[in-house]
Amino acid sequence: MVEETLVLIKPDGVARNLTGEILRRIEAKGYSLVDIRLVEPELSILAAHYAEHEGKPFYEPLVEFMLSGPIVAIRVAGDRVIEGFRMLAGTTDPTLAAPGTIRGDFGRDWGLKVQQNLVHGSDSPESAARELELWFA
Ligand code: CMP
Repeated sequence: MVEETLVLIKPDGVARNLTGEILRRIEAKGYSLVDIRLVEPELSILAAHYAEHEGKPFYEPLVEFMLSGPIVAIRVAGDRVIEGFRMLAGTTDPTLAAPGTIRGDFGRDWGLKVQQNLVHGSDSPESAARELELWFA
């Protein structure tokens, strides 16, 4: 079934000039780029995006990190793309992400309070709908 998901290239991915490489992997997998924007988000967007993490120890560093530079927001379409992009991204912890994934190939631990793990992908159809509305309003 064709789905849409929200992919974010986080400030570390943009700053490290990995945007092209990440887009290449999405396209090489056969997914379609439906819309793309370079964004410097308002705090309110990040607060809504990460509402489920509010109160966790990494919440404040996470929001600060996401405000530290431009982000690329992408609407991506494809069959089972929500699960599929999360496989391309690899597990949240970049040190443990499998080689061959975006986080496994380019991410590592930097000894910081937040995992700078290059990309975000929606984790369910409900999250995808909510997040796409937020970032592509
Ligand atoms: P993401 O999947 O975009 O959504 C939540 C983000 O919080 C996650 O990527 C990481 O960047 C960060 N994160 C999640 N868990 C932790 C953790 N235990 N410690 C630090 N940062 C985390």
